[in-house]
Amino acid sequence: MGGTVKPLNPGTVASVVRYGLAADSLVHEATGDALVYSQLYPFEGLQNYTSGIIHHVRLQGLEPATKYYYQCGDPGIPGAMSAVHAFRTMPAVGPRSYPGRIAVVGDLGLTYNTTSTVDHMVSNRPDLVLLVGDVCYANMYLTNGTGADCYSCAFGKSTPIHETYQPRWDYWGRYMEAVTSGTPMMVVEGNHEIEEQIGNKTFAAYRSRFAFPSTESGSFSPFYYSFDAGGIHFIMLAAYADYSRSGEQYRWLVKDLAKVDRAVTPWLVAGWHAPWYTTYKAHYREVECMRVAMEELLYSHGLDIAFTGHVHAYERSNRVFNYTLDPCGAVHISVGDGGNREKMATTHADEPGHCPDPRPKPNAFIGGFLPPHFTSRHAPGRGVDPAADLQRLPGEQLRPRHPRGEERDARSVEMAQEPGPLRKRRR
Ligand SMILES: [Fe+2]
Repeated sequence: MGGTVKPLNPGTVASVVRYGLAADSLVHEATGDALVYSQLYPFEGLQNYTSGIIHHVRLQGLEPATKYYYQCGDPGIPGAMSAVHAFRTMPAVGPRSYPGRIAVVGDLGLTYNTTSTVDHMVSNRPDLVLLVGDVCYANMYLTNGTGADCYSCAFGKSTPIHETYQPRWDYWGRYMEAVTSGTPMMVVEGNHEIEEQIGNKTFAAYRSRFAFPSTESGSFSPFYYSFDAGGIHFIMLAAYADYSRSGEQYRWLVKDLAKVDRAVTPWLVAGWHAPWYTTYKAHYREVECMRVAMEELLYSHGLDIAFTGHVHAYERSNRVFNYTLDPCGAVHISVGDGGNREKMATTHADEPGHCPDPRPKPNAFIGGFLPPHFTSRHAPGRGVDPAADLQRLPGEQLRPRHPRGEERDARSVEMAQEPGPLRKRRR
């Protein structure tokens, strides 16, 4: 941090991972790439940041459902290798094997409440973690490290550009090591990762600090991609990149969905940041344009579950399509109560006088145009039933509810995993 910063040379340190099937037998070695990024605010009184050296190493040819031990660092520098950690790969792709537990969290942050969430996550020993955006909230701090209580109330008027305090990313990375060193985690961007800096550059930390299967899934984008885990095809979508039907993301999604074989991956699960269905006043119908653009495509391919965050509360819809109960629609589950740094959402849009007005001007980061279907009237609530769904069921993970609000029993969940019946009802 400082008025002037000089980036480190990533070529000075090797990126090596040694790994194997036993802690004392790390017989394989993979090398990768290193990078640094900078977050620059060349304005009087603001501090710049340049990162430590960030390493990315890809391990290829791993066996499914196998525990690997590893350590990482530069073996050519004394003391520069990590401790030995271990992780388990995903089960083989196919309809008969699944991750035992998947933790899905949004708006995690780095607070007292984050600690509670992460403690619960660790104690439940997930096989996979999905983080659906809003990671460390570095953009709720001035460059001098001073924090604010909300994004919009503390910035924007007196500073030439919205500031961030990038060391929050470093803190968050160290804090999350207990999870990320041993559990595969997939991340998709939220609005708090935009982090604009000089030159209209955005998402620098997000792009630099995480790895994405963009090439493998053909998206070639860090903002949207797909992957398989056992019998589940996951699609991570971008709420903060072009999602119009003429855009690259939509064209990629068409191709990706066309390749899904439900006999191999019976479950189709998506994740993105801002919810299409919410009863809360906060962010109410904020990404309606994204829903209008993409919902029919996902519905036609039988999307089972959509996980989102952004709204700081837990909420789960019934099966819904186009604001109407539909037994072939997706269950929408919002998990934006990960910890964050702001307040919980408590006010519902259908409470008298609380339905927000449409945005007065386009937001460049959510499509750049006004939602044409947004009215000042509360949307018909037939697809979302707060009374029935605002409870997290003990031990519940991926258990969609029946459209009539009856919880599916184990047998019906099992049937949903069978390829065919659900899909045959669709075109
Ligand atoms: Fe958000």
